[in-house]
Amino acid sequence: MKRLLIGTLATAALSGSALAHSHGAVTFEDHLKPVLAQHCFMCHGPYSPGIDRFDEDKSGYSAMLVGPRMYAYDELMEFVTGGDAGALMRRLDDGSHTSDGQPGNMYEYLGETEEERAENLKLFKRWVGHWTLKRSAEMTDEDHKLIRALERR
Ligand code: HEC
Repeated sequence: MKRLLIGTLATAALSGSALAHSHGAVTFEDHLKPVLAQHCFMCHGPYSPGIDRFDEDKSGYSAMLVGPRMYAYDELMEFVTGGDAGALMRRLDDGSHTSDGQPGNMYEYLGETEEERAENLKLFKRWVGHWTLKRSAEMTDEDHKLIRALERR
């Protein structure tokens, strides 16, 4: 009986995601990086061009399935609150916030299954803290204040 209980507790602890143990503080270092490494860095990793170089030949890079680098925290933030603010949210949305109801074109990369995509989207949403699809020029100070997107604890 005791053994069974311990076994059950161990299984429960193992199956709980890292997120369940994060006590609410979702950070780039602890939670986002592993997901990015698994699903995004093959096209947005250390060997991808920075956003300025990418913009000089957008179609050339895109044709090779190479996206702009989002490897470091600051590089990723460019697409959250920086010059291309909201891009991360627009590209990853599952269609619930887009005007045409279609998912953003990076949504499919969030996982192999619908369940995994939904789970990872939830993580990105918790990290951003304020899921707005507004473009940089439309974002208000209030929007900027509400976005959390922490680098580390
Ligand atoms: C197979 C390669 C590939 C994968 C995997 C991929 N992307 Fe992309 N991504 C691209 C390419 C190529 C572009 C540029 C073309 C475009 O804008 O659609 C892009 C564009 C983007 C943009 C917009 C950049 C801009 O200039 O505004 C964001 C944000 C983005 N990706 C996020 C992600 C995230 C987050 C993941 C992981 C969940 C991911 N992508 C996975 C290839 C990829």
